[in-house]
Amino acid sequence: MNSSPTERFRLDGQVAVVTGASSGIGRHCSLLLANAGAKVALASRNVKELELLAKEIVSAGGHAKAFHLDVTQQSSVTQCFTQITSWAQPTIVINNAGVSVTKSLLEQTEADWDRVVDTNLKGVWLVATEAARTMVATKTAGSIINMASILGERQINGVAPYAISKAGVIQVTKTMALELARYQIRVNAILPGYVITDLNREFLQSELGEKLRMRIPSRRFNEPHDLDGPILLLASAAGQGMSGSTLVVDGAHLVSSL
Ligand code: NAI
Repeated sequence: MNSSPTERFRLDGQVAVVTGASSGIGRHCSLLLANAGAKVALASRNVKELELLAKEIVSAGGHAKAFHLDVTQQSSVTQCFTQITSWAQPTIVINNAGVSVTKSLLEQTEADWDRVVDTNLKGVWLVATEAARTMVATKTAGSIINMASILGERQINGVAPYAISKAGVIQVTKTMALELARYQIRVNAILPGYVITDLNREFLQSELGEKLRMRIPSRRFNEPHDLDGPILLLASAAGQGMSGSTLVVDGAHLVSSL
């Protein structure tokens, strides 16, 4: 008999890698996946924070382990996946690590570009290809979810390298979805609008943030939990038919009136 719709969203027996798991959306997402039954490999540069999160998950009855990862370095990505695969074979990857530098276009330096593009675009590429190699080698079906942004499709002042990197993430998603479909590996992207995290809370709650909120048709910023449905859909059997998609989660911001 087919499993019930609710059961199809469960992740029991799955192993999820979350990059940038120590804070914000990555932290929330790790708790969500563990709660849905997945074993979670928490990967980021700040291992101490990750170990605290792993403890929190384990003490709630879940399974999680901390792994050091710098997504900008191939050697770090390779080493991290060697360690993760000796713990458990990943079936889900959440490419969440990301950074932004806010400056006018004319002030952005080569170092700013390198930091943002290396983390947001090269990092997603390195992690996704490394994960795909282990999945193909072990004949494991998988789901790779890339955290892009509505700035991958629209523009705003002050974050040019960020917006350009996120546009690249959308194309990484589509090209990888095409090449990996034959291995039963699905690749999708989530395009969040503004999500309140520690990184931007002060700005979003300022006067400028208020002006920004009034330009969003729904007049609200997202909270990390607004991404729960899209993440579980793409990660689980409930989204088995989806690959190469870009799921927008933005309260209609992207389709706002010109
Ligand atoms: P955050 O700053 O709280 O989280 C980013 C995480 O990435 C941090 O844990 C950081 O340590 C990690 N990280 C940065 N560089 C890394 C590297 N080289 N190697 C490994 N880990 C690294 O930010 P937030 O808001 O949780 O963002 C998470 C993702 O969601 C990012 O990709 C961001 O671009 C995307 N996003 C966020 C939105 C928002 O409004 N907060 C909106 C749209 C997309």
